[in-house]
Amino acid sequence: VVLGVDLGTSAVKVSAVDRSGQIVAQESFDYPLSQPKPGYSEQNPEDWVNGTTVAIVKLILNDGLKAEDIKGISYSGQMHGLVLLDENKQVLRPAILWNDTRTTPQTKEIAETLGDEFIQVTRNKALEGFTLPKILWVKENEPEIFAQASTFVTPKDYVRYRMTGKLAMEISDAAGTVAMDVAAGTWSKEIQEAFDLPASFFPEIIQGIDYAGNISQSYALFSGLTTETKVFGGAADNAAGAIGSAILKPNMVWSSIGTSGVVLKYEDNADVDYQGKIHFFNHAIPNKFYSMGVTLSAGHSLNWFKSTFAPEEDFTPFVATASKSSVGANGLLFTPYIVGERTPYADGDIRGAWIGIDSMHKRHDFVRSVLEGIIFSFKDIFEIYENAGAKFDTVIASGGGAKSPLWLQIQADIFNKKVVVLENEQGPGMGAAILAAVGLGWFASVQDAAENFASFGKEYTPIAENVAKYRQVYQTYREVYPATAELSH
Ligand code: XUL
Repeated sequence: VVLGVDLGTSAVKVSAVDRSGQIVAQESFDYPLSQPKPGYSEQNPEDWVNGTTVAIVKLILNDGLKAEDIKGISYSGQMHGLVLLDENKQVLRPAILWNDTRTTPQTKEIAETLGDEFIQVTRNKALEGFTLPKILWVKENEPEIFAQASTFVTPKDYVRYRMTGKLAMEISDAAGTVAMDVAAGTWSKEIQEAFDLPASFFPEIIQGIDYAGNISQSYALFSGLTTETKVFGGAADNAAGAIGSAILKPNMVWSSIGTSGVVLKYEDNADVDYQGKIHFFNHAIPNKFYSMGVTLSAGHSLNWFKSTFAPEEDFTPFVATASKSSVGANGLLFTPYIVGERTPYADGDIRGAWIGIDSMHKRHDFVRSVLEGIIFSFKDIFEIYENAGAKFDTVIASGGGAKSPLWLQIQADIFNKKVVVLENEQGPGMGAAILAAVGLGWFASVQDAAENFASFGKEYTPIAENVAKYRQVYQTYREVYPATAELSH
């Protein structure tokens, strides 16, 4: 078997996957998130290492997995987090995570120093969540700590270092630092010079399927693994999720509804220029890329609505009541900006709205308006693709949005595309396992492995009448942001 380590924000989940792509055992371990000040979000990297180790120990002790049968390990990791290390590779301060927003001044400083043109190199605007602003924050606010810093890594790369003793940064996570020349696949010298960061501060970049080392002797003693097990690069969680769901053809787009929502497109090359309107990152597959937009509050909007107004009800029947409403929720429109919005507005201050509330509306209209509003916010990302001339015909739905047939039909009708679900969806841990399987040579390519491990299920096709109705409603949806931005700021 191979192990896919999915290092998330609230827990780590380790899946043991056999050669046929079946999960034979799975264990997880939770760790805390610390928010010492508003906007701060930190974790102790030691918790990631301990959590991963406990999950591996449980696989061996509780599930009967034999250490010598574990041939390879790879990772999926929460993106963008800063783990700052001294010259002995000791952690200097708690990791600053992707959802930490203290770095607004640094994002402005980066934009001013580099200028708009430079987005052609980094392919991404330096948002609060990304790593370079976090590095500059420590440099400016904790100079005594920064003076001891010799290098840095992102979260899953730190865990890999602790398991192998070899430090490297895998390319799909390196891209999320906004310190790379993405098309070239290298760290940007201009950025190093502009912010006075020595080249030696930036670790070696490796590919997702690259062999990174064997399990070290000390980690073998700590975990019960053997030093025969080979360890491979891994991927940023979104890249790993896309691999695990076989989103590996340019005609495919992924629509994933978790707490936040992601629309992600596989990119064969770096030729297309989205001008920083959506993220454009190196893939964990050599010389491939992916682009993505994020809706900050997707599943979170629905969870918030249900827990506020129907806390006692079960989720599935609650969502299904939306079918009593009609296409366009009988004129009720919701914008899901309840914690701000990333794509297309990059606006942390905007808040949500209901427009058109009428005394005839019932609760099921509100439920439907929330389902539709979330998909309209995805449609905004589709518009960026369409305006840039990107062509695709198939949307693969996953996460909460793929569990309700009604919500899947709403997606097909709002996107006006065929929407397909995955059979037995496994998430980013499966992508991590695929990278280890390819690294070991079980498969010739990531594409090969993913097509063997993932299979597609039911298809939803757009209904012309609904498409026409939603096209109209979407025009109104577009007008709500500018009209409410003034009130929210
Ligand atoms: C992507 C992002 C999140 C994290 C969550 O840009 O910030 O999806 O990867 O781990």
